[in-house]
Amino acid sequence: MSLLIKGGRVVDPAGGIDAPADVLIEGGQIVGVGTDLPAAEEEISAQGLVVAPGFIDLHVHLREPGFEYKETIASGTRAAARGGFTSVVCMPNTNPPVDNRAVVEFILAEAARNGAVRVYPIGAITKGRRGEELSEMADLAAAGVVAFSDDGNTVMNAAVMRRALEYGKMLDLPLSVHCEDVHLAGQGLMNEGRMSTLLGLPGQTRAAESVIIARDVELARLTGGRIHFAHVSTKEGVDLIRRAKELGLRVSAEATPHHLTLTDEQVATYDPNTKVSPPLRTREDVEALRAGLLDGTIDCIATDHAPHSRDDKDVEYAHAAWGMVGLETAWPVIYTHLVLTGALSLLQAIDLFTRQPADLFNLPGGRIAVGEPADLVLFDPNKKQQVTEELLVSKGKNSPFIGQELQGWPVYTIVGGQIKWGDESGR
Ligand code: DOR
Repeated sequence: MSLLIKGGRVVDPAGGIDAPADVLIEGGQIVGVGTDLPAAEEEISAQGLVVAPGFIDLHVHLREPGFEYKETIASGTRAAARGGFTSVVCMPNTNPPVDNRAVVEFILAEAARNGAVRVYPIGAITKGRRGEELSEMADLAAAGVVAFSDDGNTVMNAAVMRRALEYGKMLDLPLSVHCEDVHLAGQGLMNEGRMSTLLGLPGQTRAAESVIIARDVELARLTGGRIHFAHVSTKEGVDLIRRAKELGLRVSAEATPHHLTLTDEQVATYDPNTKVSPPLRTREDVEALRAGLLDGTIDCIATDHAPHSRDDKDVEYAHAAWGMVGLETAWPVIYTHLVLTGALSLLQAIDLFTRQPADLFNLPGGRIAVGEPADLVLFDPNKKQQVTEELLVSKGKNSPFIGQELQGWPVYTIVGGQIKWGDESGR
């Protein structure tokens, strides 16, 4: 089947393109970009829309197997398509965890059967994500994982982490690190500081994040392994990663839309949807993360989409599960709060969602060019919509952005030339 996307503004940071153009798709691939392209069997009018490479998310919890009441591969990938994502990388904190080949094979098979977008699993660093004994990393790599992580947990034993980095280096795969010293974090429910004092909630010192980043920078230096710092949230963390990059170490980092736009002041609502790990920090941290995006210290934006059921969240703050959904709102949040305010250019923002994550984990896509997979998002830069529970197609409704009016919503998501999300209604 052939498809012509006509009359849009094509923005492709990888190719340095920002121009009116048509995109022709055939056999799941991009076969033409330009004007005067031949007609196709199907046509989409992209008048008034931006045509960008499909977004790629390096940090998503799909919850299957084991927590299907929170999310499934089918529902999570539909949420991804609704948010303009064409590829998601999923975390291994499932039940059973992704610490053996059978679980990787199950995820890939289920994604092929029922996934709306491409799914790339991450394998656990340690067996059971317990931080004690390495998983069969080479076997996981052979089964198709694109990285390793114990996300949700930190590998607290530095000797285990050292060995994991050595194996990761041998397999040429990165380790995505959840940076939280469990002892320093203790029973903290939010960022430790003025707000936790005012609210009378136990705080989590910011050093819980930065001491692990500092440790792992040293382990990257020792081993030559590749570390990707997940959901960086503190100014000190950004500073450490900047210095590590200056030293030429193989480190990269992501920041989430929520850490880039929200602060611990939001916790004053006691809304459990503001409870996330790492916790929301201060305005100074938000500014440091944004500066990190601009100078390349932070390489990409990733959602940490963490769906939970109502029963997990609709309880006292202390008992609520950690995490928030993010796939549907990530792009409009960044577009509204960073692009429209001039903090990022449109090209920079798209780059952080496309080419950058693709290159970090060596994934296909992230570009609009002949021969590339036909993975595209068409978004309407003028479309404003309020975030409601109904708008979220994830099983999880735990978004701190509910009630906010956001702009720049995806209208079509195309994966391998197939329309996986099409919202004619709002145009
Ligand atoms: O808030 C979070 N929720 N942070 C994590 O690192 C894990 C995630 C989850 O799996 O719910």
